[in-house]
This record gives sequence, C-alpha cells and structure tokens, in this order.
Amino acid sequence: MPDADAGGHRLARTLSWPHLVALGVGAIVGTGILTLIGVGADRAGPAVILSFAIAGAICACAALAYAEMATMMPVSGSAYTYSYAVLGEVIAWVVGWSLLAEYTLVVATVAVGWSGYAVGFLTGLGIHLPDALAHGPIFSQGALVEGGVNVPALLIVALVAGVLTLGTRESATVNAVLVVVKMVALAIFVVVALPYFDAANLHPFSPFGFGKTASPDGAERGVMAAAAIIFFAFYGFDAISTAAEEAKNPGRDLAIGIVGSMVACVAIYMIVAVAAVGALSFTRFADSPEPLALILRELGRRHVATFLAASAVVALPTVILAFLYGQSRIFFVMARDRLLPASLATVSRRGTPVRITLFTAAVVMVFAGFLPIDAIAALANAGTLTAFVAVSVCMLVMRRRAPEMKRPFRTPLPWVVGLAAIGGCLYLFASLPQRTQIWFLCWNLLGLAVYFLYAQRLREAGDPERSYEHRVRRRHRRWRW
Ligand code: ALA
Repeated sequence: MPDADAGGHRLARTLSWPHLVALGVGAIVGTGILTLIGVGADRAGPAVILSFAIAGAICACAALAYAEMATMMPVSGSAYTYSYAVLGEVIAWVVGWSLLAEYTLVVATVAVGWSGYAVGFLTGLGIHLPDALAHGPIFSQGALVEGGVNVPALLIVALVAGVLTLGTRESATVNAVLVVVKMVALAIFVVVALPYFDAANLHPFSPFGFGKTASPDGAERGVMAAAAIIFFAFYGFDAISTAAEEAKNPGRDLAIGIVGSMVACVAIYMIVAVAAVGALSFTRFADSPEPLALILRELGRRHVATFLAASAVVALPTVILAFLYGQSRIFFVMARDRLLPASLATVSRRGTPVRITLFTAAVVMVFAGFLPIDAIAALANAGTLTAFVAVSVCMLVMRRRAPEMKRPFRTPLPWVVGLAAIGGCLYLFASLPQRTQIWFLCWNLLGLAVYFLYAQRLREAGDPERSYEHRVRRRHRRWRW
C-alpha cells in the first residue's frame, strides 16, 4: 500500500473542491461525446440515447464506490492503491497494469481526436498539412496507403506535459478555464440543434437490437455494443481520486468532486444525444470524425460548426491534462511501492513528479503518433472496466471487513450499488469487440510475467522497513481494520 508520509516523496496539498470538479468534468467531457457519439450511433442507431443512459448508470454506480474508497483512503493511486490495501499485491499489480494501459491509451485517443479537429480546423482556414504528417499510418493489405506520423498529436501531448511539470495548481487553473469553453460549446450545440428535433429521425429506434451481435460488415452492433464504446465518454472521474494526496480537505472535496462531476456529465450527454439524433438521421453522421460539427453544418449553421470545432481544439487538451496527470500519479505510487524503479518517484521542488510525467508523455507519444483511434479507445475501456470492478469489490469487502471504520463518504445502498457496478462493468466488457478482449488478455499476461520476473523481486530487494507488509501493519494500527 502506498505510503502518503514517505519523506521526500510527499505531494503538495494545493487543490480544493472547485479544482476537483473542474478536473473531473475536464477529464470526463471530451472525445467521447464529440467523436464517439458517431461510433455509438453507428452501432445502435437512435437507441444510442439508451446506450448513454446504460453506460452512465453503470459509471454512476462505480463513481459512488470510488467516492467511498477515495475519501476513506485519500492517497494517490486510485484503484491501484485501494486494491493493494484490500485485495493484495498481485491483484493490485493487475489493476495498476490495467490503469497504466488505460491512462496511456486515453491520452493517446484524445490526442488523436484533437489532431483530427485541429487538422480540419486548419484546412478550413486554408492551411493544409502534408498527409504524411497529419495522421498515423493507414495500411491496406500490408502496404502503407495513407498518412505517416500524427505530428499534431505529438505536439499537443508535449505541450500538455510541459504545463503539468510547471506544477499542479497552475495546471488545474488552466484546466478550469478550458472546461468552461467546452461546456459553452456543447450548450450552444444543444440550443441550435434541439429546435430541429424531428421524431421521424428516431424511427426505427433500435435497428440493431439490444445485445452485441456481429454485422455482415464485421462490426459488432447493438445497444450494448454501443454502450461498451460510449462508456469512454463517461469515465475520467477516477482522475480526481488520483489527486487525493493533493486535496486540501479530501473527505469533503473528493466526494463533491467525484459525484458532482459524474452527475453533471450524465445529464449533459443525455441532452446532447437527444439533440443530435433528433436533429438528423443517424446514418448521416454515424461515421463522421466530427459528428457534432457535421450535424450543425447539415442544419446550415456553418459558423456555429466552426465555433464548435475551434472549442474542441482549445478544450480537448483538458482531457489530456487530466489523464496525463493521473497516469503520472499511478506510476508515482507504484514506483514508491518499489514495484517500478524508485528513481522515477522523485518529486521536484514544485511538488510534481517531473521524471514520471516526462516518461509517461514519451510513451503516450509513441501510441498517439502511430495508432488508429477506434482500436485504442476500445482497449482503454477494457482497462477502465477492470479498475472499476476492482474498486467496487474493494468497497464491498471493506464494508464487510471493517463496517465501523470511519467513512467520510458512504455509498447509499452499498450492496445494490456495488453489485450493479460489478455486474454492469462485466456486461460492458463482454460487449466490447472480441479483438479488444483478446488484446487486453495478452496485455495482462505480459503484465503478470513482468510482475513475477521483475517487479516482485525489485520490491523484495528493497529496504525491509519500507516493505509492503511493514506499511500495511502500520496502517492496520492507524485505521483499526
Ligand atoms: N471521457 C473522456 C472523453 O470522452 C475520456 O474524452
């Protein structure tokens, strides 16, 4: 279990709840609603509204479990940290390994999504980037047919990583301003599109049925298949719990930050989805890389479409910021637990782990520069679902193991909510494309090999006074488990 008090490795407490809500909404609203709503409509038709509701409800249950665990254990590391304390080191490693994949892939996905908007926006201004520098490689039958390196995606990751190394408070304040831009853009979309609502666009409501089924074109469709992708649009609140060590008043601030930002986003997405599928037949925007802007253009509102695209370009970096921030903290606590090289865990005078931030950014840039957006988003979902299941299990185990322990935030109806979160996440995982499930399994088999061949030995070779067992015993006394 990570030790918040390790001398020289302590993070500065600079964040209060408005920062955390902004961090949460900044992390949640992004490529999912702006881009993946099109993929969702392609998979489910107008019933994508239902997919949003299902994914949102499952996420809300997981968010409540998160809020309880995050306020009970206000230390960095989120699902990894809770799993370490409650379920043991091997499961914690699997969760941490999944989180490393999740955060890396989310940052890469959003950077590629941002690049798409940025390239489109520049093209609208008459500035044309060479195809080889505008997006990653596209292969057909083993041969490169388009693209090369996604240079805009690399640049945005480098820029955001630079902001993060300046210090947490500065980064969170920049984030808060850009979140407002994002909200205004979505509000304008709804105000403009909603008057065009035509009930005929909602028929047939669910052309591909409910459960995941394979279509002749090879895609897997249905309301649940869409929910498994749309799920990407909802998570991000867990990035708040990774900031726990830096919250001024974790007990109150984290609960407000996590639950508040989750509820706000569920409401926003439902309204945006109704406005989108009501205004235009889903078949016309389903495979667009910029579906909301396309809807506005189809409605004859070109200037509003341009404004929306510009807002996406300005505001999507908040999502990159939140996840890059979360990723560096997961690395930080795993290194501090000596499961990863401890030299990575040093903190700068500003209280930020600069080395890990830069290392993480370098890895993200490899993905963002060369991989397609759809595959990485689905794989990111697999990692997130694993973390959500683990946190919900932790919450239930702790309710049984230590029912009297002080909980600044208590999940209402914990068994109903916890089991709904676990069951819902497993159902979403089963609804992901089969290829994604196989890749994710391979990633975790690799992770377990790394654990048994490297990480476990690295930790055991460390100072016994800083061992996991030593710290857990100390925690047991302090928290009276
Ligand atoms: N929820 C975040 C997004 O949609 C990951 O971009």
